Amino acid sequence: MNKIFKLASRPQGLPKRSDFSYEEAPIPTAGDGELVVKIHFISLDPAMRGWMNDSRSYIRPVEIGEVMRASTVGEVIESKNPQFKVGDHVVGMQGVQSYGLSNGKGLSKVSTKLAPLQTYLGALGGPGLTAYFGLLDVGQPKAGETVLVSAASGAVGSVVGQIAKIKGCRVVGIAGGAEKCRYLTEELGFDAAIDYKNEDVRKAIRKACPDRVDVYFDNVGGEILDHALANLNLRARVVICGAISQYNESSIQGPKNYLSLLVSRARMEGLVIFDYKDRFMEAYADLGKWLATGQLKTKEQVEEGIENFPETLLRLFSGEKMGKLVLKV
Ligand SMILES: NC(=O)c1ccc[n+]([C@@H]2O[C@H](COP(=O)([O-])OP(=O)(O)OC[C@H]3O[C@@H](n4cnc5c(N)ncnc54)[C@H](OP(=O)(O)O)[C@@H]3O)[C@@H](O)[C@H]2O)c1
Repeated sequence: MNKIFKLASRPQGLPKRSDFSYEEAPIPTAGDGELVVKIHFISLDPAMRGWMNDSRSYIRPVEIGEVMRASTVGEVIESKNPQFKVGDHVVGMQGVQSYGLSNGKGLSKVSTKLAPLQTYLGALGGPGLTAYFGLLDVGQPKAGETVLVSAASGAVGSVVGQIAKIKGCRVVGIAGGAEKCRYLTEELGFDAAIDYKNEDVRKAIRKACPDRVDVYFDNVGGEILDHALANLNLRARVVICGAISQYNESSIQGPKNYLSLLVSRARMEGLVIFDYKDRFMEAYADLGKWLATGQLKTKEQVEEGIENFPETLLRLFSGEKMGKLVLKV
């Protein structure tokens, strides 16, 4: 059977199981030009919370009654599309279900020779691409500069920090808890880590960034963004990638310290990864090379069972996970 989660209602605050409906349906069959994918891993991304809201964004909201949107990776089990054959592994956005029917648009083939399938949802997927273009294109770090990144042990942040190290920067990560901070400095090679749950973040940034912050890669927004703004260097770049601390709030807290941009002659710029789709191959080449040489390390936390989707999604907001969170179907 195909196991499917659809959006049942628009969440208020944190999403609840009752915001989704669970259905079972026969496994789809391919018509002319179509293929059926057995989905192996579903990506859990903070953006999914925004897609559940009925508000203007960079992508249309998920409709009530529609399969919940999610990135996926799986294996072709039936194909009447000449571009795909049975046994091919493909990534795409096939949603929270165990089998996906597709006409092939938006699906890309991937190889398990370079990395395990789930890595194509992490460092070799949307988060890795976001880190790559957000840091290099928007942040424009130069060797010797200081890069500060929040949600630093997560899917995007961990890649941001490691690319910044490859580019010769001093790298400071902000994460929740001693274990994650240790992971950043001892396993990923960050120069320093700040435990935002147990430290005075503003003072800790000042201490860890004696030459101030040249690039702040913001994944969390809220108070941490304000503390970073208070520590900017002259002509700093603030990359607005996300604001996970705000996604479940009914009204968003904007930056109070925005005049630091004036004082520092700094700039703050948002990014949406879809804008870079024509340049994805450029990023894959570098990310693949760094993975192969061991300069880029990845960690995926694999949770089991599509039935556990609603509760697993919440781990993004509680922080009860390490690295990239994926669900094994
Ligand atoms: N603009 C784009 O195109 C684009 C694309 C992909 C992702 N993003 C954004 O990038 C950010 C990171 O995404 P990801 O996939 O890499 O997720 P992730 O970092 O793997 O997971 C989310 C992490 O956010 C942290 N967090 C949760 N609530 C927080 C709070 N109130 N304050 C501070 N930290 C909090 C937690 O880390 P701790 O355990 O350290 O608390 C949690 O592990 C998100 O904001 C996402 O929306 C943007």
